Amino acid sequence: MPILVLYCTGHGSTADVAKHIASHIAEQMPPAECHDMHSFDVSTLNDYTAIVIGSAVHGAHWLPDATTFITANKAALTSKPLFAFSVGAPKALPKPISHRWQKWEDDHIYNNLQKLLDGRVVMHVVLGGKLDKEDVHCCSRWTCGLIKEGDYKDWEEIDKWADSVVIALKGQESPRRDFFTCT
Ligand SMILES: Cc1cc2nc3c(=O)[nH]c(=O)nc-3n(C[C@H](O)[C@H](O)[C@H](O)COP(=O)(O)O)c2cc1C
Repeated sequence: MPILVLYCTGHGSTADVAKHIASHIAEQMPPAECHDMHSFDVSTLNDYTAIVIGSAVHGAHWLPDATTFITANKAALTSKPLFAFSVGAPKALPKPISHRWQKWEDDHIYNNLQKLLDGRVVMHVVLGGKLDKEDVHCCSRWTCGLIKEGDYKDWEEIDKWADSVVIALKGQESPRRDFFTCT
């Protein structure tokens, strides 16, 4: 059975990260599929070996649609090995605070996910995305005026995290079919 990567994106970078994770996993444990959770047929959730699920971060939280999705599909999601990633832009903050913010955000989102998913998330990470200043409405609690726009995606870091998902899943039998599908 394939490994499923699901994502919820606001402006596209979470989709890019999710597709990269899926193709990297597929190189080592094929097959893998990658889908936008909005167009995903949830009745097929049981057809996967493991699930990797991710969302863009706004205001230190997953997008509301992503939270709604995991709440609505908790039973199916928690019946599989479950991994989560968040795509944010902590590196857009000034250096002295960006590292501490990323650590705080990682813990904060992880704890929220564990509450919603009965502690079944095996691993969580905050990965860098892309920030365009015009997408952040000023006066958002999230540091308006301090942030620096840019593309903070780090493909090596993304590959490393995808590798750790593969390591965690090793030992599970999966049919070796060489394909990778994405919608
Ligand atoms: C309104 C808004 C609020 C944001 N809040 C946060 C935040 O709290 N923490 C963070 O790390 N990144 C934050 N970001 C940055 C986004 O998470 C980042 O740009 C990410 O790449 C967005 O993914 P997407 O392109 O899939 O929407 C925010 C971006 C926007 C537009």
